[in-house]
Amino acid sequence: MEFIEVAKSRYTTKKYDASKKVSDSDLEKLKEILRLSPSSINSQPWKFTIVGNQELKEKLAEASYFNAPKLKDGSHVVVFSAVDNVDKFEKDINEYLPEGAVGYFNTMLKPQGEDVIKNWFSDQVYLSIGYFLSAVGAMGIDSTPMEGIDRAKYKEILGLEGYQPLVAVMIGYRDEEDGNQPSNNPKSRLDINEIVEVR
Ligand SMILES: Cc1cc2nc3c(=O)[nH]c(=O)nc-3n(C[C@H](O)[C@H](O)[C@H](O)COP(=O)(O)O)c2cc1C
Repeated sequence: MEFIEVAKSRYTTKKYDASKKVSDSDLEKLKEILRLSPSSINSQPWKFTIVGNQELKEKLAEASYFNAPKLKDGSHVVVFSAVDNVDKFEKDINEYLPEGAVGYFNTMLKPQGEDVIKNWFSDQVYLSIGYFLSAVGAMGIDSTPMEGIDRAKYKEILGLEGYQPLVAVMIGYRDEEDGNQPSNNPKSRLDINEIVEVR
């Protein structure tokens, strides 16, 4: 499928078919796709937690406000978390990043303090979410990005020591009657001339 077709056909799924599950072979591909996500200086300040266990999904549903039914019926939820322990990150990068990248972190980011560093971690995680949403769309899997979650409860339920959950992405297959499908609810976006300039 050409990417423009993925962009037009992927959409935020509001109602899932509980009888359809993402296959193990597709899950293996998705794990590798997550691992290959790009990030600034290849910093990879993240953790991706994939939950397919129904009992655990239902616990997370209780911490997901209006998104709860998606957690119950969708196949798997992928929780995108950022590194929360800056000191540990600083030590770890010496092991997996080249000297130049470590130098960039130490001279450009570290002096700006912990809040800026944590925002930068979050930027990297959000980038991986956009990339993941496109990838699942290309694989014919439906998805829902969800900021509407209780991050503190997610952290507690999943025992994500050293990480801060930011966004959960539900994956699965749409209920045929999902009213949000582009065929029922055409995509709404700002006018192209307002937001894209070619000079
Ligand atoms: C970071 C992020 C968080 C979102 N959180 C939610 C959410 O909690 N629940 C939900 O139903 N949709 C959520 N959305 C979906 C957006 O409302 C949706 O992407 C937007 O309206 C465009 O529609 P489309 O994805 O169908 O093209 C979120 C989207 C993004 C990118």
